[in-house]
Amino acid sequence: MARTPIIAGNWKMNKGTDGEATELVRELKPLVAGSGGAEVVLCPPYTALHAVRQAIEGTSLRLGAQDLFWKNTGAYTGRISGLMLADAGVTYVIVGHSEARGRFGVPEPDFTPDVLKHFGETDVTVNRKTKAALDTGLVPIVCVGETLVERQNGHTDGVVQTQVQAALNAVSAEQAAGIVFAYEPVWAIGTGEVCGADEADRVCSVVRATVASLYDDQTAGDVRIQYGGSMKPDNAADLLARPHIDGGLIGGASLKAADFAAVVGAARA
Ligand code: PGA
Repeated sequence: MARTPIIAGNWKMNKGTDGEATELVRELKPLVAGSGGAEVVLCPPYTALHAVRQAIEGTSLRLGAQDLFWKNTGAYTGRISGLMLADAGVTYVIVGHSEARGRFGVPEPDFTPDVLKHFGETDVTVNRKTKAALDTGLVPIVCVGETLVERQNGHTDGVVQTQVQAALNAVSAEQAAGIVFAYEPVWAIGTGEVCGADEADRVCSVVRATVASLYDDQTAGDVRIQYGGSMKPDNAADLLARPHIDGGLIGGASLKAADFAAVVGAARA
């Protein structure tokens, strides 16, 4: 069965006020009108989920969140559960983003080791969050990818395989088939440096082969895999034409309506 392309805008810690979020969606809606060809997801900060939910009502746009905690309720100050997100109208949730793992494409000089502890996502917590998302009816967008040093040392495939395997620990084939993976080479995130389409497709095929090795070819064929890392209008069509790239996770370019709409247009073409 053909996989439906999926383009998700990861707004990160931007456009998080009601006013900013509503304005961006207002600009975006006429540009991405029509439902055909690709799924389009907006992942604003938690504070703007409600405003974006209202603004996209009646459209084919879907709501996503940028993280979740794996417990449903309890004494976990500052955490947000999958149950809460589902109730807030969320259908997709980003899990294991490299920034949450403390792996930044653009160096953060003031993030000393004690500060970096705040970005402590690990393969184990990614797995818990992936399962929590699935169990609460959300679709996890599980992010994997290597740093520049890992790439230079020839560890790209191993890093990606390890991250995919860990995320899928104790996940059934049926649930795994519905997951979206995002291959995001850390060195390409927010840097303007895009991974070449051939190489991006090759690593996405490594993700798919890893899923096949854990389950079967059908499950691997159902999984959708996005590329993320400086995807923008002038490189999106090339990336999205590749057989293993089923969409994009868009950071910077998702904050400009025209740019995001152009990427969506490339996915629909
Ligand atoms: P970028 O971010 O498009 O700004 O590189 C992508 C991401 O981090 O998901």
